[in-house]
Amino acid sequence: ALLDSRPKPLAGRKIIVTSGPTHEPIDPVRYIANRSSGKQGHAIAAALARLGADVRLVSGPVGIADPAGVTTLHVETANEMKDEVEKLLPADAAVFAAAVADWRSETSADEKIKKVAGEGPPALQMIENPDILSGVGHHRKRPSLVVGFAAETRDLVRNAEAKLAKKGADFIVANDVSHEGGVMGGDRNRVRIVSKAGVDEWPEMSKDEVATRLAALIAERLKTVVV
Ligand code: CTP
Ligand code: CA
Repeated sequence: ALLDSRPKPLAGRKIIVTSGPTHEPIDPVRYIANRSSGKQGHAIAAALARLGADVRLVSGPVGIADPAGVTTLHVETANEMKDEVEKLLPADAAVFAAAVADWRSETSADEKIKKVAGEGPPALQMIENPDILSGVGHHRKRPSLVVGFAAETRDLVRNAEAKLAKKGADFIVANDVSHEGGVMGGDRNRVRIVSKAGVDEWPEMSKDEVATRLAALIAERLKTVVV
């Protein structure tokens, strides 16, 4: 095999990445989920590993392979993802690309919920999941660099700026998820990088290219941070 002799600016850096959806159980056979494919988060994990980082990917249930050169942990629920991420601290940087379910059913039935004639559908009592990014963004072991995502169908930059402040992130990768056949599940992405310094609009490119550019930006930012 050819030796990869490119420089490794992230050698010695531990970076946590979350990716994919979470599955929130209703009963043994049913769950609440979303359309996240994990493609963007997995591509970011792979790109960071190519730059030499020790990448710990915490992935929800996805239909794609574990990225090469990355230590991947598989979880189902938001609570499991949060526990794994917190166990991985401290780290130099963390990238929260997962589409974490905002809510879960308060209870998960031990037995399959049956249709009962005349009773109608079950009323699911939903409760809010913990915000993993916000927890890490305000953690006593906060990584020097915290990157979040914002999936929005309207007011993209305004909502991303609000998330930047509220969640304690350094960057928000803002994503317009409104268009039909768009970013969710697709191979291309058009993002804006929102930080305190302003908004950087990137042209539409493949998710792999977004990942490569984001990894380079993270390497650039971590250069000034002493190990
Ligand atoms: N996030 C998280 N844990 C959650 C919800 C979101 O870590 N329980 C992270 C996502 O991984 C992403 C960022 O927070 O990096 C923003 O997610 P998003 O769904 O866009 O924002 P929310 O704060 O959940 O707000 P809303 O869905 O109402 O827009
Ligand atoms: Ca959300």
